[in-house]
Amino acid sequence: MSKLNKLRSEYWFNSDSMRGFAHRQRLAQVGYSRSSYIGKPVIGIISTWSEISTCHSHFPQSVKFIREGIIRSGGFPLELPALSLSEVMVKPTTMLYRNLLAMEAEELILSHPLDAVVLLGGCDKTIPGLLMGAFSANLPCVVVPAGATINGSFKGIKIGTGTHTRKYWDAKQAGEVSKEDWLLLEETMTRSAGTCNTMGTASTMACIAEALGLTLANASTTPAVDSAHGRICAHSGELAVNLALKKITPSTIVTEKAVHNAITVYGSLGGSTNAVIHLIAMVNRLGLSIDLKKISNAVAKVPVIANLMPAGEYLMEDLHNAGGLLAIQLRIKHLLDLSAEMVTGERLETRLAQAKIYNDKVVLPLEQPLSSYSTLTALYGNLCPNGAVIKPVAATPSLMEHRGMAVVFESMDELQNKIDSDDLMITERSVLVLKNAGPVGAPGMPEWGGLPIPKKLLSKGVRDLVRISDARMSGTHFGTCVLHVSPESAIGGPLGLVQQGDEIEISVSRELLQLHISDSEMEKRSKTFKHKELATRGYLSLYQRSVQQAHVGCDFDFMLGKNNASDPIIF
Ligand code: FES
Repeated sequence: MSKLNKLRSEYWFNSDSMRGFAHRQRLAQVGYSRSSYIGKPVIGIISTWSEISTCHSHFPQSVKFIREGIIRSGGFPLELPALSLSEVMVKPTTMLYRNLLAMEAEELILSHPLDAVVLLGGCDKTIPGLLMGAFSANLPCVVVPAGATINGSFKGIKIGTGTHTRKYWDAKQAGEVSKEDWLLLEETMTRSAGTCNTMGTASTMACIAEALGLTLANASTTPAVDSAHGRICAHSGELAVNLALKKITPSTIVTEKAVHNAITVYGSLGGSTNAVIHLIAMVNRLGLSIDLKKISNAVAKVPVIANLMPAGEYLMEDLHNAGGLLAIQLRIKHLLDLSAEMVTGERLETRLAQAKIYNDKVVLPLEQPLSSYSTLTALYGNLCPNGAVIKPVAATPSLMEHRGMAVVFESMDELQNKIDSDDLMITERSVLVLKNAGPVGAPGMPEWGGLPIPKKLLSKGVRDLVRISDARMSGTHFGTCVLHVSPESAIGGPLGLVQQGDEIEISVSRELLQLHISDSEMEKRSKTFKHKELATRGYLSLYQRSVQQAHVGCDFDFMLGKNNASDPIIF
């Protein structure tokens, strides 16, 4: 076999050296003989299962099916666990560890005898983290999204994970939910394995992975507990063997065309604002560049046609029954580059030949979009020179053109202590500002951007305010929240200079976020600004010193681009 055709795993296993013996002898230790794996593509199954990652609780069964597909196609499966990153359980925030998962995935792939990988993730940061690592490693890969949990229902009302947590919490704070109902909600809101069933970050990133061409058709919308998920797993295993033999790497799939398609699909979904950060970070790992402004401009041209919570009415299971992501892609076919190639070897045009739309209430007609507003608008101005984002489709239209006095909190601690105090000076016209919630400041840029509405306004029926921070917001939430302000406050960004009572203007139509103080006042304040002290040990120290700002994807500054490692060196 020529060096060109040689499988990468053969450097480990097909050698007469002492090391070749040692590698084979270790597989023999667990019962394998040479015929199990020599000359066969070795496929890594990188699984983000852990017992506390409840969205991934079905992964042991998924892995079983992936293994079956790999073996069926003549490959040899090896399961490698990776950081599970349960969105709800990991503190202070999973975003602090997305880059750690990306580093782990890259090193897992490159340090082991693998010819291709199946990436098994779903809960918010897992697909971005796995793909960042896999893109840098640039070995053949296929993604299997976890799939969403099945539809939720409470007393006859369709409820979505995350979205209704916030809605019912606000109602509880306003005294409108009984203790008994609150307990019942806790026990019934999430009914099965799988990721959040709204168009939150997990669903958005699964759909983006599919739109990039990295999954089987409708893998992103198939519910976690649907029997079709097992078949998707098995076919993905088969596919990985084929990709390994043909040496089809992510860089040949994720081209400019694929990125265009992913941004367009994102725009049509009313997807999570988090997706922008992840997509920029992922694509930068392949040496492609996209920036926030370009994404915002592209998304502005795409009607939101997915009627899904938090902006709409339905859930992921409904989208799947309406034809899945294929139905969305079919509806916006004229906006997509149909020549883009998928991991399956088909072009998007061929894939869409099987697409059908079964429910116009879920996949809306182009002439009746969910809203006249778009999925994302980037804002600029003296408060966010490098940009900030808002999700207009999930915001209150009257608040998107607004001037109001700032009510400022220097930290999340201060906010929690004061937000419900009786002497908080606030009206429904105020602008809530939270500082020190960005990548360096928080640290890790938690999903604090949907700042709580003070109880005293909730009891008057107020359910939204203009809220500004350098944090992110859960993709399952809604509100007039300006997020990802860059540069962030903790490193001296203008957000750090805002004081109580300053006038702030937001104009989504003019893509503007402006602090109405004079340049000289801004300069005066910046002279006395104190930078945040950084951690001095451990991962946190590495993170705070190396993380980039939100508008460029929050990756580490030393991790950009592909890993140019050549063939493995086996001693
Ligand atoms: Fe896992 Fe929402 S908590 S996807």
